[in-house]
Amino acid sequence: MTGMDRKQKRVFVKTYGCQMNVYDSERMMDALGSSGYSAVASPEAAELILLNTCHIREKAAEKVYSEIGRLRRLKHDAAASGRQVLIGVTGCVAQAEGQEIMRRAPEVDLVVGPQSYQRLPDVVARAAGGARVVETEFAVRDKFAALDRPIAAREKRYSAFLTVQEGCDKFCSFCVVPYTRGAEVSRSAAAIIAEARRLAGDGVREVTLLGQNVNAWRGETPSGRGLGLGDLLFSLAEIPGIDRLRYTTSHPRDMDDVLIAAHRDIDAVMPYLHLPVQSGSDRVLAAMNRRHSRADYLALIDRIREARPDIALAGDFIVGFPGEEEADFADTLSIVDAVGYASAFSFKYSPRPGTPAADRPQVDGADAADRLSRLQERLGKAQADFNSSRIGMTADVLFERWGRHPGQIVGRSPWLSPVQVFAPESLIGSISSVVITGCGSNSLFGCLPVDLDGDAPVLEATA
Ligand code: 5AD
Ligand code: SF4
Repeated sequence: MTGMDRKQKRVFVKTYGCQMNVYDSERMMDALGSSGYSAVASPEAAELILLNTCHIREKAAEKVYSEIGRLRRLKHDAAASGRQVLIGVTGCVAQAEGQEIMRRAPEVDLVVGPQSYQRLPDVVARAAGGARVVETEFAVRDKFAALDRPIAAREKRYSAFLTVQEGCDKFCSFCVVPYTRGAEVSRSAAAIIAEARRLAGDGVREVTLLGQNVNAWRGETPSGRGLGLGDLLFSLAEIPGIDRLRYTTSHPRDMDDVLIAAHRDIDAVMPYLHLPVQSGSDRVLAAMNRRHSRADYLALIDRIREARPDIALAGDFIVGFPGEEEADFADTLSIVDAVGYASAFSFKYSPRPGTPAADRPQVDGADAADRLSRLQERLGKAQADFNSSRIGMTADVLFERWGRHPGQIVGRSPWLSPVQVFAPESLIGSISSVVITGCGSNSLFGCLPVDLDGDAPVLEATA
C-alpha cells in the first residue's frame, strides 16, 4: 500500500436505471464508508469509480463499454502521476456479462453483481492489491445481511427507500430481471420493521418499499403464519413517525385482497400505485407471458378504485413487441383511455439476449417508433388531464428540499407528483396542506392556504 492509499479515499458512483439501483448505490457507499471511502461528485476526484449498471432496456452493455472507454484516459493519467484509480462495474450488466467485461475492458478492476454488495469492501481491497475480481455468485443466504446494519450518517432525508424483496419468478418473455436478479427472495418482516424504525428515528417520514416484484413479498409471523405485503403495510403503519408508505413495482397477479384493503384502511398508504400492464391486447399479453388478460387488469383496477377512489395509477408499456399488429396497438391506446393513468413509462421493445422474445420475428423499427410516439402523446394527454384535475384541491405535501426557483420549496403530493410552492424553508421536513393552483407537464404548483384575513399563510405543519 502507498501512503496515498491509507488516506481518506474517495468513491464516485454513477447510477443507471431504476430506483432499486439508486438504493443499491447508496448501500454500496454505506458499505464502502465503513472501510474509509467518502463519496465525491465527479470521477476525476475519485480513487474508485463504480458504474452501477442497468440491463433492462436498450443497448445497456454498449453504453457501459463506452463509458469505460471514457474513463480509460483518466485512469492512465492518474497512474502516470502515481495515483491508483480503480474502475468497477456493478448492477445487472455486471451480473449478466461478468467475465465478458473483464475480457473486453482490461481497465476494469472489479465486477460485482447485485447479490454480492456486502462483499464490496473486500473485493475493492483485493483489487487495490492488483487482482482483477469478478463476484457474481447468487449468495441468497446472506443477500440482505448487509442491509441490516445501521445506516451511515448521510444527508438528512425525509423520504427513503427500503428494499423488501428482490428478484422475480414471473418470466415475462421480454424481461432479463429473472435472469440477472434471480428468483424472488423476501427480506424478513422483522428486519424490515427494524430498518423502518431506524429510518423513522433518523427523521424519515415516508418509506417506499422496493422490490422488482414487490407485491410478491412473503413473510411470516413468529408463530409461522404467512404474511403478504398488505399485512406488512399494516405493521409498518404502526411505527411512530412513519406517516407515508409507498411500494413499487407491482405485478397485477400479486395484488391480493389484503393489499387492496390496505389502500382502503390505512391513511399512511398513499393513493398511488404503479401497476404495469405492458399492453392492452390479449394476444400480446399472452405472448409476453404476463399471465393476465386485459379484462383481468381492468377488473382489478375497478376493485382498487372502489377501495381508494382518489388513487393515481401509473403504468409501464412496451410497443413493438414481436407479433404486435396495428389492431393490438389500438387495444393499448384504448386501455390508456379506459384506465386514465396519472403517469406512465413507455418503451419500444428491445430484444434482451437470452429471453424468449428475443428470438422471435421483430416488428419493423419505424413502425415501433411511430407507435411509441403515438402512445406517448396519448399518455401525455392522460397525465395532463390528471394534473389539471388536481387544480383547486387541497393536498398534503411532504416538503423535501429547495425548489426550482429561489424562495420555492418542493415536496410530493399523495399522488407522487412534485409540488412547487413559495414557502419558508422551515417547512422542509413537514407535511403541510397545500392548495393546488396550477400544473406543468410533470409537476404541480401550489400555495399555502391563507388565513381568514387573506394575508398570512398558515404555517403549522400537520403530522
Ligand atoms: N424492452 C423494452 N422494455 C422493457 N422493459 C423491460 N424489459 C424490456 C424490453 N426488453 C420495460 C417494462 C418494464 C420496465 C421496467 O421496463 O415496461 O415494466
Ligand atoms: Fe420482469 Fe416485472 Fe415481468 Fe418480473 S414481472 S419478469 S420484473 S417485467
